[in-house]
Amino acid sequence: MSVIELTVNDRSVRSEIAPRVHLGDFLRESEHLTGTHLGCEHGVCGACTVLVDGQPVRSCITFAVACDRQQVRTIEGFDDDELMARLRRSFSVHHGLQCGYCTPGMLITARDIVQRFPDADESRIRLELSGNLCRCTGYMGIVAAIKAVLADLKVNPIAQAPREPVRAAEKVAAVAPQTGATFETFAAAPVSPSTPAQAAATSNEQAPAAQRKGWTAIDDSFIVPFPLEKVWAFMGDLPSVTACLPGAELTEHSEDSVKGKIAIKFGPMSANFAGAARLERDDAAHRAVMRGAGQDNISRSRANGDVTYALSSEADGNGTRVAVTLEYMLQGPLAQFSRSGLVKDFVRRMIADFGARITAQLGGTDAPLAIAASQKFNVGSLIWSVVWGRIKRLFGKEG
Ligand code: FES
Ligand code: FES
Repeated sequence: MSVIELTVNDRSVRSEIAPRVHLGDFLRESEHLTGTHLGCEHGVCGACTVLVDGQPVRSCITFAVACDRQQVRTIEGFDDDELMARLRRSFSVHHGLQCGYCTPGMLITARDIVQRFPDADESRIRLELSGNLCRCTGYMGIVAAIKAVLADLKVNPIAQAPREPVRAAEKVAAVAPQTGATFETFAAAPVSPSTPAQAAATSNEQAPAAQRKGWTAIDDSFIVPFPLEKVWAFMGDLPSVTACLPGAELTEHSEDSVKGKIAIKFGPMSANFAGAARLERDDAAHRAVMRGAGQDNISRSRANGDVTYALSSEADGNGTRVAVTLEYMLQGPLAQFSRSGLVKDFVRRMIADFGARITAQLGGTDAPLAIAASQKFNVGSLIWSVVWGRIKRLFGKEG
């Protein structure tokens, strides 16, 4: 059992729970907040959406222990929220619900859309809402309700500050024309920002993830049994490095930039991100940063990510440690997956696989690369091994 302390709807909560309990069950069964509905329990339908530290997450795929020391807000926590009151009224007026099962999650997502996209048109609303499923209404009423609230806010703005801060990085993204766009090019960082907005964007890009709203950071490392200089030279060869990333495919590259795609199947969700990245290398420090961005044209989700890797020789002379920091932000329907503990474990497993493939490549073993090149990255088996690892840790065995 684990002890967690968190704030639920402005109330301090301390609880002893099993690590496997997801946030949705914790809220419903321990806190009796049954407004959070559970539908698929696979992270697909969005019925269980709540806010964690102001961001919508799917409580069915978020472990309660992962919310230790965080702020959780369920549908019951919006009773005195003016924006939510307008959305509730609008859902009624525009027939945005029938059985109401999806409605708590729909309302929390709708409020997030209204806050992040004050100028959203219908296609933007439908895009952002596509992670929430309703089996009754056909969505016409839900979309109409959100459009009506957005129009009303133009003439009757809400005086009070929103309860949760709007995610700054996503607000910046909201002003860019994105609807229906396919990913074209990776914009090179401006040499010297000429406007305050550019300066802010540049400093945001280079700030650590912890300071970038909406970004998630994961640190990990692996050891490659080869000398530092050999590993460093290999890491500068972009086609070889890409070949070590499961599911990745290179379509174009120069010395310091790549274009390509990566296919991922996460349970019932498929994503095929196409994008580009730029590599910045510091030869003296044996440190490099790969900055990339891409879009999945199926779900219309967007991803921005920086992968930083720093090499150092192991003290015993047996190989090179590669310390990896992955910082990323997902926007759109897949965004709610980015914070779940399972996804973080999955990414760590990916980093470990990446290390194993580099070792195989440097050692002249091609088998893992053949698999990577020929196979769509089916996360299913990896997810199961991650889950199995968690279960073994739970019972005190090696993960
Ligand atoms: Fe369907 Fe959580 S219950 S996404
Ligand atoms: Fe019934 Fe949406 S109103 S599932």
